[in-house]
This record gives sequence, C-alpha cells and structure tokens, in this order.
Amino acid sequence: MNEVPEPVDAPFRFDVLTLFPPLFEGFLTESIIGRAVRNGLVEVKLWDLRQWAVNRFGQVDDRPFGGGPGMLLMAPPVVEGVNAIRDDFADPGHLVMLTPSGRRFDQSKAREFLTRKRLILLCGRYEGFDHRVNEILGPETVSIGDYVLSGGEVPAMVIIDSVTRLVPGALGDETSPLDESFHDDRRLVEYPQYTRPREYLGHSVPEILLSGDHAKIARWRESLRRPSEPPQTQ
Ligand code: ADE
Repeated sequence: MNEVPEPVDAPFRFDVLTLFPPLFEGFLTESIIGRAVRNGLVEVKLWDLRQWAVNRFGQVDDRPFGGGPGMLLMAPPVVEGVNAIRDDFADPGHLVMLTPSGRRFDQSKAREFLTRKRLILLCGRYEGFDHRVNEILGPETVSIGDYVLSGGEVPAMVIIDSVTRLVPGALGDETSPLDESFHDDRRLVEYPQYTRPREYLGHSVPEILLSGDHAKIARWRESLRRPSEPPQTQ
C-alpha cells in the first residue's frame, strides 16, 4: 500500500557496537565526517554494548576459561546486540570485528567496504571476544596494523573515515579521492606541496610552482612521486 520507496542514494550506514559511545563524539560531528553526516551521505548509529549486559550490574565481560590474563567480552551481549542491530534496519549489513589478529585493513578493503552499503563494526576491549562470537556470527576480522590498541574504537573510526571519504560527494568539490596517495595501490606518496608564505626561515617555494606553466608543473610533480616508506623490519 502506501510504501515509501527507498531513496536511490540511501546514505551509507555504519552501526558501531561499543562499550564507549562517547569516544566517537567529536569525530562524528567535526570536519569531513561531520559534514557527510549532516548532508545525509552517511549515517552512523552508536550502540552501547551494556544494553545487552548479562545482569543488572551491567556485566559484559568475564575471565577466560582455562586461565590467562585479563577479561573477555562475553558472547551473549555481542550476539544479542548484533541481532538487535540487524533488526533495526532492512539490510543485514556486513559484520566486521576489529581485532589485532584480523586481516590488515588497506585502501582496497576500504573500496570493497564501500560496496557493502552497511557495515556493522564490533569494537572489542580487554583481551578480546569469546570465540563463539566468531563461530555464531562469522564476522570478517580486520586489523588496522600490527600494534595493540586499547580497543576497537579507534580502528572503527579509521574505517568510518576512510570509507566515508570514498562516498560520492563526501569530499565536496575541493578534493578528489583520485588525487590522493594509494588510490591506484602503487603505494605512492604525494609530491611535496607548498602554500604561503613564499619564503620561510630561509626555505623558499620551488620556483617552478610560481611559473604558471601547468604542464611543466604536472611533469615536475609526477617526477617527485615516490614510494612511501615500507614498514620497518628488525
Ligand atoms: N583492537 C586492538 N588493537 C587493534 C588493531 N590494531 N586493529 C584492530 N582492532 C584492534
């Protein structure tokens, strides 16, 4: 009957399951992400994992069976939370668990995530998740790098930021994602750039950039593109 049709360009939707929703506050309201949210290009919904705590004390974690350091996030709050999040919206979305043991996130993964239209991001804390979360929900596990952070919130922000930048219109007119490093997977960094003043502490802007000869400037910039530093090895 009176069904409202889905808008052709529905916003990209992120759902974040976290113990610390306030960590996202400034990130989601300022700058490019804030503008993309205000313009309806992306929608971000934060879900507090404690809503699905196992008791009235708000418990969501417990000690690992078999011993070992720290606490694990329990399976029931996470599984029930994800089910509720999925029920909130027609598209079941793509489930991503942030963990240092996951597959390394990169620009091509950001492009792939963009095609998913909806991402559900699971942020761990403590020593990680009860493994039955993986068995029951089968999330894709993703790491942002070989270092251990205090939780998955910063990695979730990294994913939201990099995917949002690829949403058509999110960067406005001033920048194009095609101009940026990594767009073609060649691990290139950009050429050096300069703005006013022309001279600062004895360092001046290369003369060619002031020449007005755009073809020449483009060739100069191309000649200065160089590979970014590889990760340090021992
Ligand atoms: N949680 C803790 N450290 C992480 C990392 N490096 N990547 C993703 N999730 C994490």
